[in-house]
Amino acid sequence: MTTPEPDPPVSEEARDEFRATMSRLASGVCVVAVRERHQDLAMTATSLVSVSLDPPTVLFTVHSDARLREAVEPGSRWAVSILGSGALAAADWLATPGRPAFDQLATVAHHRGDLSGAAILDDASAWLECETQWIRPAATHDVVVGRVLASARVPGSGGAVLHFHGRMTTIP
Ligand SMILES: Cc1cc2nc3c(=O)[nH]c(=O)nc-3n(C[C@H](O)[C@H](O)[C@H](O)COP(=O)(O)O)c2cc1C
Repeated sequence: MTTPEPDPPVSEEARDEFRATMSRLASGVCVVAVRERHQDLAMTATSLVSVSLDPPTVLFTVHSDARLREAVEPGSRWAVSILGSGALAAADWLATPGRPAFDQLATVAHHRGDLSGAAILDDASAWLECETQWIRPAATHDVVVGRVLASARVPGSGGAVLHFHGRMTTIP
């Protein structure tokens, strides 16, 4: 068996250009959450992708060092809150490195998904509950593919949090 060649180093300029290029893609902001051993883990993410309608399947990518990563395994369940415009502060908080892991949702209004037990933000405009099908590494991140067990729009909750040009903003 041959050992794969290590990736060539990426220059700082190339990395900055890639970041700036991708910043032109306006992305919807979500919160992915897991409940593990009576503790909530939640993180802001823009990597959610709708993969397939039949059966309903999504993916997100998670940094291999993210605390939520440890709680996501094949067969584990998680929830995704698709954020409405009222969730900007929560999105900011749940992207803050070093926030306490314990009780990190104490200031974020939420309820629990019936199928995953994971937190769904009250300011979500829609949500999904999913079960992990498989996980594959991709550079610094892992790609998590999940079957959608349930999904719903939240009546009366609208707008969105978007990430564009390196900052989060809301649309009504
Ligand atoms: C707009 C935005 C989108 C993000 N998207 C992702 C993502 O898709 N995957 C990821 O691993 N981290 C993403 N992050 C970074 C995490 O939210 C952040 O590193 C968080 O603190 C990770 O949780 P932890 O500190 O509990 O490990 C994003 C951050 C922001 C501001």
